[in-house]
Amino acid sequence: MSQKSFTPLRITTIKAERTVPFPVYIFFKEQYLEYIQEGNSLEKEKYKKLRRQKITKFYIKDSDEGKYQQFLDSLLDSTLDDPNAAMEEKVEMVSGQSETAIDRLSDDPANQTSFDMTRKAAKNMQKLIFENPESLNQIFGQDNEGSHVIQHCLNVAALSIKFAKLLKVSDEDIDYLSTAALMHDIGVMQMEKEQAELFHKPKTELSPNEKSVYFEHCKGVVQLLAERPYINAHIIELIECHEENLQGSGPMKKAKLSRPQEILSLVNTYDKKIITSKLSPGDAIKEMMIDELGNYNLDLLNKFKDFLKTEKVIS
Ligand SMILES: [Fe+2]
Ligand SMILES: [Fe+2]
Repeated sequence: MSQKSFTPLRITTIKAERTVPFPVYIFFKEQYLEYIQEGNSLEKEKYKKLRRQKITKFYIKDSDEGKYQQFLDSLLDSTLDDPNAAMEEKVEMVSGQSETAIDRLSDDPANQTSFDMTRKAAKNMQKLIFENPESLNQIFGQDNEGSHVIQHCLNVAALSIKFAKLLKVSDEDIDYLSTAALMHDIGVMQMEKEQAELFHKPKTELSPNEKSVYFEHCKGVVQLLAERPYINAHIIELIECHEENLQGSGPMKKAKLSRPQEILSLVNTYDKKIITSKLSPGDAIKEMMIDELGNYNLDLLNKFKDFLKTEKVIS
């Protein structure tokens, strides 16, 4: 079978001891091997072992995609509404859905099924965060073995959702913001390896040439998305503006941002400091208050700092 007829998914979206209505594969020694048979379930011990071995991906046949989405939707609905389910389990499932969606979008940004999955993941993340106050810190503190860019997208989404709510951004805008946050750096994942490495370099250390190469990640993908009628224009604009700031030193030199755009850009800059400069959350906000003064509204920066304290992200 060709590689094209398989679709990846995160192991965390297939819960142990739950009947799976489609066969699940692993990719081993250059081939797809059936790991869970249709109608069977994954044993808890096997699941734990895979996690320990840092095997993060399973595969399904493309033709089973509809069954997988149905399976995942009902699993997430029942887990998120279950008062007895542990918060860790809820975080793991919502993260798994978000990671799978981002992973797939980075392969094919204009794929409607992957976009729909991202919308659902964004909605579930809102539900998780609003109904489980402690979950924000759990998502933020996760160590994503798979990819720093994906973990960054999850962090930015989680922080943006709750910060925007605090600032009384409308529910509709929070909805767009959460989707855009999950998708905002898929352009980085599409870059050649050498260029994508620039993601790990602090902004202040980029040469003018490196900066313009890096900024390309905001443009190419947006052109692709803009052609798709099912993607809302607000989402596209948020993605396009995520590296802009009030001094106009972003890729488009745009100095006027809407409130949701400013929130996404600020949270993006904050989390990127932690990932690229390996700063602690507390040191990252200290650096923001110096380096980013003028790039963002001072009042917004102060509110963000207070928000991080309230959420116990910093002490
Ligand atoms: Fe970015
Ligand atoms: Fe980013």
